[in-house]
Amino acid sequence: MLSWLHSEHFPLYLAPMAGVTDVTFRGICKELGADVLVTEFVSAEGILQRDDRTRHYTDFDDGQRPLGVQLFGADGVRMGEAARKIIDWKQPDFIDINFGCPVNKVVSKNGGSSLLKNCPLLASVAREVAKAVPIPVTAKMRIGWDAQNINAVEVARILEDCGIQAITVHGRTRAQGYTGLADWEVIGQVADAVKIPVIGNGDVASGLDVEVRRAQTNVRGIMIGRAAMANPWVFQEARHYLTTGQHATPATVEQRFALMRRHCELAISRSKRGGEFEVIRSMRSRLMSYTRSIPGGKYLRGRFGQIASLMEMDDILADYQTHQQRGLVSQESDADDVVTEAN
Ligand SMILES: Cc1cc2nc3c(=O)[nH]c(=O)nc-3n(C[C@H](O)[C@H](O)[C@H](O)COP(=O)(O)O)c2cc1C
Repeated sequence: MLSWLHSEHFPLYLAPMAGVTDVTFRGICKELGADVLVTEFVSAEGILQRDDRTRHYTDFDDGQRPLGVQLFGADGVRMGEAARKIIDWKQPDFIDINFGCPVNKVVSKNGGSSLLKNCPLLASVAREVAKAVPIPVTAKMRIGWDAQNINAVEVARILEDCGIQAITVHGRTRAQGYTGLADWEVIGQVADAVKIPVIGNGDVASGLDVEVRRAQTNVRGIMIGRAAMANPWVFQEARHYLTTGQHATPATVEQRFALMRRHCELAISRSKRGGEFEVIRSMRSRLMSYTRSIPGGKYLRGRFGQIASLMEMDDILADYQTHQQRGLVSQESDADDVVTEAN
């Protein structure tokens, strides 16, 4: 049960990210060293009511195991039913319950992070889901509702009592959204307070970050989200650092472009809702995320904001290389980038 959390190997998780960690991106991160994957969150009611529309969120290939499907909701019995349905379809390795989502649409229906304010309801959700399914159930939570109500240790103890087998803690409150810094002190307190494994999450972007957080706390794994959107090599780089104590050579710009192209090609080949034009347009923001790890990212974001075909991607690379040869690309990632020729 959750064998990867009970071995010498320190697992690196890809964070669930709605609209980002679909089957294609998860596959890419797996190839680049992510050990454990979790689907983006799926509504339990959606699973029960609209099978087909919601089902594709739970899709995965066997090569992506170990993989968890993340559910959100506020009714443990219904969530347990939804979890059983998913297990009938796909047999994931674990079910993860979302107690962290800050979005109003979810919170207003008592789902996600709102359960941190209602421990009896949170306990009933955790208990019912754990009771309903024959596979491990894990949970992902924030450290509390707001700075005045940081209750992660209390919540973690409740979850452990309810049969939850591992907990991921994102070190921010709901009120913080994605602002400020993740509080790794509280994550460490949770890891010390419960016997089940705790996975730490928040602001980890390099092998050094992983090593520092591992040394500082008793977490049994680390989850990485936004850094992987810009640089999916982060898993490989982190593993290299953990193994050798040395920084890996970063991927080249050409490798990054090749990956972006392959990501688009895979998305097109999997698409059931349109051809190249629709898929590439829908991937603009994903491509822009990749540029955050490339010098001259601002220039590239301008170009990717308009992209509509794979051929344009080749043109963008060629133009970028020309700019680079002329010394017009800033060497800083994400900086103010390409100086116009007029300057
Ligand atoms: C675009 C986006 C979508 C997210 N969707 C989910 C989600 O579906 N389920 C979840 O538990 N967390 C979700 N999160 C939170 C991440 O899993 C993670 O906890 C957070 O980004 C902090 O980790 P990081 O600093 O490594 O990015 C999302 C975050 C982002 C940026």
